[in-house]
Amino acid sequence: MNPTIELLKSHRSIRKFTDQKIPHELLVELIRAGQAAATSSHVQAYTVIHVKNPANRERIAELAGGQAYVASASDFLVFCADMKRPTEASERTGANVVRGMTEQLLVASVDTALMAQNVAIAAESEGLGICYIGGIRNNPQAVSDLLRLPEHVYPVFGMCLGYPDADPDVKPRLPVEAILKEDVYTDDSEQVAAFDDAMQRYYVERRGGNKDANWSKNLTPLFDSKLRAHMRDFLTQRGFEMK
Ligand SMILES: Cc1cc2nc3c(=O)[nH]c(=O)nc-3n(C[C@H](O)[C@H](O)[C@H](O)COP(=O)(O)O)c2cc1C
Repeated sequence: MNPTIELLKSHRSIRKFTDQKIPHELLVELIRAGQAAATSSHVQAYTVIHVKNPANRERIAELAGGQAYVASASDFLVFCADMKRPTEASERTGANVVRGMTEQLLVASVDTALMAQNVAIAAESEGLGICYIGGIRNNPQAVSDLLRLPEHVYPVFGMCLGYPDADPDVKPRLPVEAILKEDVYTDDSEQVAAFDDAMQRYYVERRGGNKDANWSKNLTPLFDSKLRAHMRDFLTQRGFEMK
């Protein structure tokens, strides 16, 4: 099969790393690969903070809910949506810049995610493992303070990178028939039920886990409370008012 597609389909998050360090030149090359991603109107609305200070790594590990691999991975990057650089550049040309639009938040968040995913794939192509860390949004203000993020910049997620010291299974995905629809949106509850059965078997057989777990049940903590309800006020304070 096409080796690029093969690589993409072999992704699994890595949460345990060896002590081997990623060479700096390789890390920079991964970031360049990230920059090659498509970007809305060429705006490149992102900044990556390479967190090198060990005390800050420990602090972010705590702020992200006690995720030790944030501190122990070879490298930890914080991917920030950045509307400061492009709006200021535009302003310097004399444009009458409007800030705080919801569309700008979307553009910057999407650009950042596309860039980060390119970094992830480039890293995996080099035999590295990665794990995204959305947990930094548990305490986004403290993370922003630590990284001295200016207004119109917000931390979307972090990413641990390093040489894998674990070989977890590839986690199954929803049947393609559920997420690929022809012409119009159609009901997919049957495919979801089939996927729940498959995930239940996966948790029991592959992970020796709870036989009550499946995809739908595992979604409970996402939706049974107002998860990260602070995000709206946080984004407003960052200058993303959502107008
Ligand atoms: C934006 C984003 C944030 C995530 N945040 C975390 C996190 O904070 N901690 C963690 O261990 N995994 C995190 N993950 C990893 C997901 O849990 C993982 O991708 C998902 O369970 C699928 O497993 P896989 O990556 O092994 O295929 C995150 C993934 C994404 C895309």
